[in-house]
Amino acid sequence: MSSVPTDLFPHPIVQAPMAGGVAVPPLAAAVSEAGGLGFLAAGYKTADGMYQEIKQLRGLTSRPFGVNLFLPQPETADPAAVGVYAHQLAGEATWYETELGDPDSGRDDGYDAKLAVLLDNPVPVVSFHFGVPSREVLDSLRRAGTYTLVTATTAEEARAVERAGADAVIAQGVEAGGHQGTHQDVPEADGSGVGLLSLVAQVREAVGIPVVAAGGIMRGGQIAAVLAAGAAAAQLGTAFVAAHESGAHALHKQALTSPLYVRTELTRAFSGRPARALVNRFLREHGPYAPAAYPDVHHLTAPLRKAAAKAGDAQGMALWAGQGHRMARELPAGQLVELLVAELAAARTEFSAGGAR
Ligand SMILES: Cc1cc2nc3c(=O)[nH]c(=O)nc-3n(C[C@H](O)[C@H](O)[C@H](O)COP(=O)(O)O)c2cc1C
Repeated sequence: MSSVPTDLFPHPIVQAPMAGGVAVPPLAAAVSEAGGLGFLAAGYKTADGMYQEIKQLRGLTSRPFGVNLFLPQPETADPAAVGVYAHQLAGEATWYETELGDPDSGRDDGYDAKLAVLLDNPVPVVSFHFGVPSREVLDSLRRAGTYTLVTATTAEEARAVERAGADAVIAQGVEAGGHQGTHQDVPEADGSGVGLLSLVAQVREAVGIPVVAAGGIMRGGQIAAVLAAGAAAAQLGTAFVAAHESGAHALHKQALTSPLYVRTELTRAFSGRPARALVNRFLREHGPYAPAAYPDVHHLTAPLRKAAAKAGDAQGMALWAGQGHRMARELPAGQLVELLVAELAAARTEFSAGGAR
């Protein structure tokens, strides 16, 4: 099995990059200090905002860490459909006493400017979501000494990641919280997402580069399972949303284990691209007709989500969460890493002693 370099992170635990203010420098620092790999999320930030966070993180830890970028998105949205959705959201804007955002607020997420910063001031690891970077980009990062990872949600996408020259692939199962990192948004493929254990096995057979498994992982025993299935490490998001250092809104953290939120769904309601969130009022009402229009819908709903958070109304927020959300533990991130490592060791001992009790 090909593995990730253990000098980058001694424990096979990656804290998922989480845009929207969740994966803040103190969270990434605590995870890296504990021997996992902490990540910053550059998505929706300016290049300078990303640079400031990297500087802050470097002040908190000298351990390796990663930075995550979103690929620019093609112009595929139907403006008429976005206009209809804006009409359907008008009542929300009135309710939250705000305006809808401008859907044309940019679709490249400052990709080139962020890459320029990361080539000028290289970081140990960079990962990519929503597509495959060019070979040129991956090669220049490698020359800068940066280890690269790219998300894939199918074996086919994993092959494209390997062909482009990435160092490793993140196999993201359909259980995962937040956005599915599909390379293209194909509405006809909605509902065809692959479960993590099946995906890891398929990706393992499709490519020779190391596989990092993501989606629904909340316990060390699950990490042992994906490692046994051929993954080199596990990437956990929702488990770290609940960590003390996470920048998630307090209502988001509470909702993970609240009896009010019993399930998650993949929805386009908040951003226009399939993303897994706790089912709340906004998702229930608008999910059924939200158009395939990312990031137009993200921009459109941004002021609504902000106003809902400010008003303390979790029913109007995007409560990103994976299917394992009810198993979230509110702990300092370093302690969570230690606990996961202990559970992983115990599960491995059990595996080698002959399996289940
Ligand atoms: C709140 C939240 C925000 C996320 N934001 C990003 C992001 O900015 N970039 C990214 O590559 N993945 C993002 N993801 C997806 C994670 O990388 C990962 O695939 C997912 O968290 C794994 O599933 P889990 O949440 O069940 O552990 C996000 C996930 C969550 C829960």
